[in-house]
Amino acid sequence: MTEEAIPLCNSRDLVDGGLAVGFDVVYGGQTCRAFAIRFEGRVHAFLNRCTHVAMEMDYQEGRFFDDTGQWLLCATHGAVYRPDTGECAGGPCRGGLVRIALSEHDGVVRWHTDWNLQPVAF
Ligand code: FES
Repeated sequence: MTEEAIPLCNSRDLVDGGLAVGFDVVYGGQTCRAFAIRFEGRVHAFLNRCTHVAMEMDYQEGRFFDDTGQWLLCATHGAVYRPDTGECAGGPCRGGLVRIALSEHDGVVRWHTDWNLQPVAF
């Protein structure tokens, strides 16, 4: 399957250390929530699935950053992840979040499909 870049949101929708923009993907055949954030000027996206227990991490929708805007937190048991790589940085996580490639051009953020990552069919 060829890789596609799918429009996700406008650049201004992602504020550094601020709320995430959520979207749906099909990952390995299952529909999952995913989220995009901005950190130190760059955009990043991950599956919204904690590596401790496979649950969504935001207790309040779109809120993944801690109060310092430096770390992504799982609201359930407090796993801490690096916003730029998704790597586990503390708490009960095992390994890192699943990354989704993003690109940003002309004020538009797009996510990129992969062999195991596809858009939801409508
Ligand atoms: S489910 Fe995320 S820390 Fe336990």
